[in-house]
Amino acid sequence: MNNHNTLLDIQNLSVEFRTDDGVVKAVNDMSLQIERGKTLGLVGETGAGKTTTALSILRLIPDPPGVITGGSITLDGEDILAASKHQLEKMRGSLVSMIFQDPMTSLNPVLPVGEQIAEVYILHERINKQEAAKKAGEMLELVGIPASRGRDYPHQFSGGMKQRVVIAMALACNPKLLIADEPTTALDVTIQAQVLKLMKELKSKYDMSMLMITHDLGIVAEVCDEVSVMYAGRVVEHGTLEDIYEHTAHPYTEGLFHSIPNIDARAHRLIPIPGLMPDPTDLPPGCPFAPRCSYAVEECSKALPTRIQLSDTHSVSCILRQKEE
Ligand SMILES: Nc1ncnc2c1ncn2[C@@H]1O[C@H](COP(=O)(O)OP(=O)(O)O)[C@@H](O)[C@H]1O
Ligand SMILES: [Mg+2]
Repeated sequence: MNNHNTLLDIQNLSVEFRTDDGVVKAVNDMSLQIERGKTLGLVGETGAGKTTTALSILRLIPDPPGVITGGSITLDGEDILAASKHQLEKMRGSLVSMIFQDPMTSLNPVLPVGEQIAEVYILHERINKQEAAKKAGEMLELVGIPASRGRDYPHQFSGGMKQRVVIAMALACNPKLLIADEPTTALDVTIQAQVLKLMKELKSKYDMSMLMITHDLGIVAEVCDEVSVMYAGRVVEHGTLEDIYEHTAHPYTEGLFHSIPNIDARAHRLIPIPGLMPDPTDLPPGCPFAPRCSYAVEECSKALPTRIQLSDTHSVSCILRQKEE
């Protein structure tokens, strides 16, 4: 399905963490694609492998204990898993950048924020300090912060403002792909809405693609074009917003929806589905969701379901759908 419109193409990616307590199979044979200019939502409970997938795209998996054991990642035609250290450094920031849940992951506490944004320009565009400072000021204004505040240090900003600074930094070099890993989870609800609105505006202004990682289906409905639902390191269902919301096919996705008290309510945090995700060091042989699935039949725990295509845009990995074929 790869064509020139595909910006990011992940095929059969597997990542594991080799720890003293066993081998954590964090990402298992997972595939996803993002088209140019589109936003893909990656949803699933904590531990599903979302962050590991994102860090793989940047080749930032901590090694040890993390190892990418299989698959391929192609970003804008570049083979990420084969890229040299030098190529990766060039790519980070200019081709792809990432916003983390906690803005302090990306900010240096002892450097004024304006200088931190300016550094991005100096690194990637080889312009002088003065020009870089001017551009940093413009970038701050763009995210709704007066340029004069560039002289302030991160601790002088509120959580929402800090995340705006991080967004400015992430966008400074005009990346083709912006990865946002639960970018608003740490913020309170009103600030969340403002930051999301800003991200949406900037995304269309810069004509970027976006990978929006979240466990909030309200956020997905608001900002995404397509959705991949992840469970125990795999994509179990993929489709457009309409496919996922109106024609939900996987029992796990259905469970995610049921766990939202009211999709229109302001606070649409998930209430957990009964039961736990399987131990990633000891995954069951069959469908990993089977032990929690109210539709499970005996076969479900015997072999992994294959991915089946329900329409051009909608696919699912569930034995029950296979039977309907
Ligand atoms: N550095 C690490 N060392 C060991 N295990 C890890 C490490 N990072 C993540 N994991 C494990 O990998 C699995 C996937 O984690 P993660 O990708 O962070 O999931 P998510 O972002 O969906 O919550 C989890 O079981 C987690 O405990
Ligand atoms: Mg995560």
